[in-house]
Amino acid sequence: MGKKKKQALSRDYINKYLIGNSKSIDKYFQNVEPFIDLIVTSPPYWNMKNYENNKEQIGFGQTYDEYLHDVKQSFQNVFDISKSTASLVLIVDTLKKGGRMVRLPDDIARQLEEIGWIHQDTIIWDKVKTLPWSRKGQMRNVFEYILIFSKTKRYKYNMDSIRVVEDMKEWWIGYPERYNPKGKVPENIWEFLIPTQGSWGSKQNFGEKEFRHACPFPPELMARVIKLLSDPGDIVFDSFAGTGVLLAVARKLNRKFIAFDINETYKEVFEKVTIPLVDSVWDDIERHYEIQEKLKQLMAINIAKLRALKYPYALMKKQKEYDIFKIVIANSEPISGNDKIDAYTLAKVNYKLFVDTNDIAEISILSQKINEILSKAPFTKYGVLSNFEVYPYNEFSKHLNSLKFPQYLYSGSSFNNYFKEIESAAEFENMINNSILSELKEKNVCPVLSNIKIHSADYELLPAEEYKKAGYRDVYSEGLLRRIDMVLNSITVHDGFV
Ligand SMILES: C[S@@+](CC[C@H](N)C(=O)[O-])C[C@H]1O[C@@H](n2cnc3c(N)ncnc32)[C@H](O)[C@@H]1O
Repeated sequence: MGKKKKQALSRDYINKYLIGNSKSIDKYFQNVEPFIDLIVTSPPYWNMKNYENNKEQIGFGQTYDEYLHDVKQSFQNVFDISKSTASLVLIVDTLKKGGRMVRLPDDIARQLEEIGWIHQDTIIWDKVKTLPWSRKGQMRNVFEYILIFSKTKRYKYNMDSIRVVEDMKEWWIGYPERYNPKGKVPENIWEFLIPTQGSWGSKQNFGEKEFRHACPFPPELMARVIKLLSDPGDIVFDSFAGTGVLLAVARKLNRKFIAFDINETYKEVFEKVTIPLVDSVWDDIERHYEIQEKLKQLMAINIAKLRALKYPYALMKKQKEYDIFKIVIANSEPISGNDKIDAYTLAKVNYKLFVDTNDIAEISILSQKINEILSKAPFTKYGVLSNFEVYPYNEFSKHLNSLKFPQYLYSGSSFNNYFKEIESAAEFENMINNSILSELKEKNVCPVLSNIKIHSADYELLPAEEYKKAGYRDVYSEGLLRRIDMVLNSITVHDGFV
């Protein structure tokens, strides 16, 4: 008998919270083309909780082996209907039973690997708050595990969508080549405040029925994993949906959802409590991403400028033995179709170094040496498409006169804050005559004249100290956004930058 051709998923399942046993969801999707893009789920933690006395429930009343067997079956089912680019995010915790620790995350991870899921990452979810009690041999438990698995090695991973600009230490300004202009990759400890019991289905907001929440996921956490591991239009799936926070967030992020739980009450909670609750916090979550996007814009502009200006500065530092360096002109210009650029190119800059000698042979050797240095790391990591030329200082006036003004003068020791705006070649000639150059020339590093303008006021917002990463709902958002807008509007992006 030949194999039956697989069918596309029926539209009837799209955006549905279904009541069904995750051990047997295979029966719903017989002969269906794999359709899941992302699974985010949290099975019962063995028999920690009795989810409303349903005899089909996994965990409660089972031996540990029976429990692991059923969990494995449910994850085999979702594996079979997942696309090859899919990932699975499992949120789970250890537990204490019979006086010893049960390493549920390890044991479930092993089952998942036996199925074929590939373990990619382990993240600690710091819930910030915890219950006030602990037991012998165990501290107050404040974290859970977020385990990320993929179906194959070619899974979706949209890191740029969740990069952050936060906790920027002051010294980043001195080392712009070390920072990705798109923002930082988040650390693997995620602080997301656990939703409090009161706000998730108390008597008042869920009719007459008493409802106890089943460890609802924080909407912020869901937003981060959905953005990281799926695209708009994708199908996200939860086989132990509970209050359905994942689904409500997926809806907001233009993803489709399909979910299963055995408990009818939770489906009702999802519709009556979770959807309105996620709606009510959504503005704050969007605001977080809006602020991050703007901070990243600011960061990208500043990193490009700082790298272009640090480039000659770093070179001078390497060439300290020369005391013939007089001044550098660093002028950025637009990248053209013929330029060889790659994904890391940020700017094209022409550098002209003027030296205190007329000896052509000496200049030629120096130029060769410099270009050799620039063809190696760290200079190859700056993202600067450079053209570096060396000239005798007696040609400086000619080059100065061909520049477009205003230009910005940087003293040799500070490439991240311009010292003076120069209106014309004449104004600069005048300054040289007043020997300002030698006054500026500190530590054997020569001054730089550039069409790139950067001032400390442009980037002092970036550390954004008041912007807290714990929870997105910070009270400073409005003011911070206004200030970022102000700075972004005041920055002129030189058209030499990509
Ligand atoms: C830890 S809770 C999930 C909480 C959920 N992540 C949320 O945000 O509310 C586990 C859920 O699994 C459900 N469950 C238990 N056994 C199941 C089974 N065999 N099939 C489907 N769901 C099941 C329970 O009803 C419970 O809602």
